[in-house]
Amino acid sequence: MLEVFFITASSLILLIQAQDGISTPPMGWSTWNKYGCHINEQLIKDAADLIVSQGYHNAGYTYLNMDDCWQSNERTSDGHIIIDRENFPNGIRPISDYVHSKGLKFGIYSSAGRQTCAGRMASSGYELQDAQTYANMGVDYLKYDNCNYDEGVSAKTRYEIMAKAINTTGRQIFISVCNWGTENTWEWAYQYGHSFRTHDDIYNDWKSIVEILNVHATVVNNSGPGQWADPDMLEIGNDRLTVDESKTHFSIWSAMKSPLILGNSLSDMPSELYNFVTNKNVIAVNQDPLGLPAKRILHVAHDKDIWVGELVNQTMVVVIINYMDQHQTFNIDTHYCGYIGSDIRAFDLWENATIPMKDQR
Ligand code: GAL
Repeated sequence: MLEVFFITASSLILLIQAQDGISTPPMGWSTWNKYGCHINEQLIKDAADLIVSQGYHNAGYTYLNMDDCWQSNERTSDGHIIIDRENFPNGIRPISDYVHSKGLKFGIYSSAGRQTCAGRMASSGYELQDAQTYANMGVDYLKYDNCNYDEGVSAKTRYEIMAKAINTTGRQIFISVCNWGTENTWEWAYQYGHSFRTHDDIYNDWKSIVEILNVHATVVNNSGPGQWADPDMLEIGNDRLTVDESKTHFSIWSAMKSPLILGNSLSDMPSELYNFVTNKNVIAVNQDPLGLPAKRILHVAHDKDIWVGELVNQTMVVVIINYMDQHQTFNIDTHYCGYIGSDIRAFDLWENATIPMKDQR
């Protein structure tokens, strides 16, 4: 059994800042983890309705991101991307308008290569034209992937070209650098995007989450406002993670200040899991105005992790992960976690309850 809990050293302020995705990590929902290439106009419109009607928007989820497969694999003779007309017969702009009419922001996907990972038309060589197309579509978020690029051209160069092209449009577009942590992403991606992937794709199982954490822990220092290290989208609600694993996944993603991009079916999310991903206390940690990622201060493989992060108002978050299949008792010394103040109070965010402290100093 896996367990996790949060403690803070003074009472947690439930203050959620303006969620533009830059001053705090972006929150939203994406088509990819659940639907892959099986997307169409109705699915996106239904998702927009559900994000609002199911209370996800109220909880802070703002972006509706359409991932791979909205394009065909062709361009017009004058270079415009041809949209997949079968699934998007009315084009993209009406969908974007619909998403905006619900008070949400609209995200789209392309690749810094000739084709997307699913073989659809991508932006390499057409950056200026495509950036303008995205701006004309009313796009607020571009996930820019790393498939099918010309050999020998560095990722840094390819992402720089698109960042400049987006800048030229004058539209404020959040850029998610999705190059899977290759070519030491964390050293340069902050210049060309607002978030950067640190690992290959998440898979819908606990093993994948542990693998990602082990890499992410080594580079999360480079994360912060406007340059969020991204361990990939959430898999909660996609049937493979246990309840405890789902809770842990959400706890640690929140504390690391990861983008919180859901990937589940919005119409039939089990209520227990829905309550996790809309938990105000935990989301407030993710959206904390300081924007500092929790860092791993202790790791014993297959046994335990302790992650600690600073929050506003002399508050800190501690995440304890029990990797064992049995209960463990943890004695946490808050001084060891880096907190040096007195009058310490601890609060369990999931239980929404104060934790009695022993031996207060
Ligand atoms: C991968 C990316 C995934 C998804 C997929 C689409 O490279 O990491 O998140 O976008 O491409 O084909």
